[in-house]
Parts: sequence; structure tokens; C-alpha cells
Amino acid sequence: MIGVFDSGFGGLSVLKPIHDRLPHYSTIYLGDNARAPYGVRSEKEIFEFTLQGVRFLLKKGCPLVVIACNTASAQALRRIQQEILPIEFPDRRVLGVIRPAVEYLAKNNKRVGIFATHAAVESQAYIHELYKLRPEMKVSQIACPGLVDLIEKGEQTSDLADKLVKKCVQKLLIQDPQVDGALLGCTHYPLVSSLFRAHLPTEIHLLIQGDITAVSLASYLERHPELDQQLKKTAERIYFTTNHDDLSGLASVFYGKDILFQQTNI
Ligand code: DGL
Repeated sequence: MIGVFDSGFGGLSVLKPIHDRLPHYSTIYLGDNARAPYGVRSEKEIFEFTLQGVRFLLKKGCPLVVIACNTASAQALRRIQQEILPIEFPDRRVLGVIRPAVEYLAKNNKRVGIFATHAAVESQAYIHELYKLRPEMKVSQIACPGLVDLIEKGEQTSDLADKLVKKCVQKLLIQDPQVDGALLGCTHYPLVSSLFRAHLPTEIHLLIQGDITAVSLASYLERHPELDQQLKKTAERIYFTTNHDDLSGLASVFYGKDILFQQTNI
């Protein structure tokens, strides 16, 4: 099975396009909703929590795990790939969401704005990765503190969410009035993409990560048939959350179809 991990609901915005593109592949989702948001936490906490989540999925037998969270990809992915996998799970793979987005942006845009959590902005992961591929690129990062909290609470259509998004868009336009593309660099933000679209000038492309990640995953599997062969393709779909409350209703809103969350400890 393909494991998909996020701090909470956000990874569902990546899982849905993965299901659309690779419908036969069986998946296990884990949202660490009990400890979301990660974006306000320290690097140490983000690393430890992400490692627990990824280990949970690897121990369930996933040959491949996608960290569908920018904050966790920025603060934990490399260490998991370099320090943990070779020792504990040498034949498994863990991928993130930043690399696919960066490859897409470097090919299609010259001046980009990245909306992300505080921790993802602090890590400078987008800036480093984009400059490696296209040094002349202009990159503006805008942290949107509080937005993940509202989304996790199901308040994504509130006035507060609208005001917060408006303020973040204004900040971007002040930092770079000529920006040509804006990436929602947090997998929770597609759940408020209509707010970003409404406040961004129409000529600015709004880029959403889910599809970009799904396309990149499909191409990765084509290039790694030895890994692809190990993946179950019976369209089984399992959803876990670390939160003890019943979150299935809210999760279904975010996924766009009914899903049933099972509670687990990690
Ligand atoms: N969805 C996550 C991301 O892509 C993080 C949200 C959070 O837990 O702060 O960054």
C-alpha cells in the first residue's frame, strides 16, 4: 500500500488527486490531527512527530510513504531518508511534496509567491530548492499563521479565514508586485483555495500541490518498477487519525466524498 501522512486533514488534498490518477493503488492515510498544527512547532517536535507517523505507516507494511505535508517535508524528510531508512527500512522509500512543486515552478514561473506555515517559511526549503534549479528566480514567502488552525476546526468559510487570506495576499503583492505565480505551499490551504483565488489578481496563476504531487508520483512509479511491483492495487482505502473525536464528517468535507476515519495511537 502507499502510505500518506499529514499533520491533519491537509494531506487529503493530496490523497484525492493520487486516488484520481492511480485509482487501483491501495492507500493508508494517517492524519496526526491530535497534534496539528505542526507549523507553529519547533523543528525537533516536527521531526519527532513526523518520524512517529512515518514509522507507523512503514510498520503497517507500506513500501512507499508520501509525506503530504510541506512543514514535515521541510523539517523532517531529509533526515528520515538519510538517517532512519537506511538503518530501519533499507528497502522502503519516503517522498515529500516540496520537490515536485519546485520542479513544476522552476519550469513554469519566473516570480513566485509561496504561501506556507511559519515553520515551512523558516526552513527556507522552497528558496533553497528553487535557487538550486533556477538561480534567477524571484521567490517571496508568506507565512499564514492561524490558517491551518481554522481549517482543522472546520472554519474554512468563516470571515476570519477570509480576512486572514486577504492579508496574506496583500503582503505578497507588496513584496513582489510583479509576481506571476502563487503556490499554496501547505497542503491544508487548497481547502481555502477559493479565498486565495478571490483575493489574488486574475493574471496570477494559483498553483495547487495535489495534482502536481500525483503526476510526479505516477512518473516516479513508472521509473521504479521494482517498487511499483510491491504496491497493492486492489483500491483498498484506509484512513487513520490520532484524534479521539469523531472527525469522519469533517474529513469527508475536505476529501469531497464520504470517508471513515479510524482512531489510532502512534
Ligand atoms: N499541511 C501541512 C503543510 O503542508 C501543515 C499544516 C500544519 O500542521 O501546520 O505544511
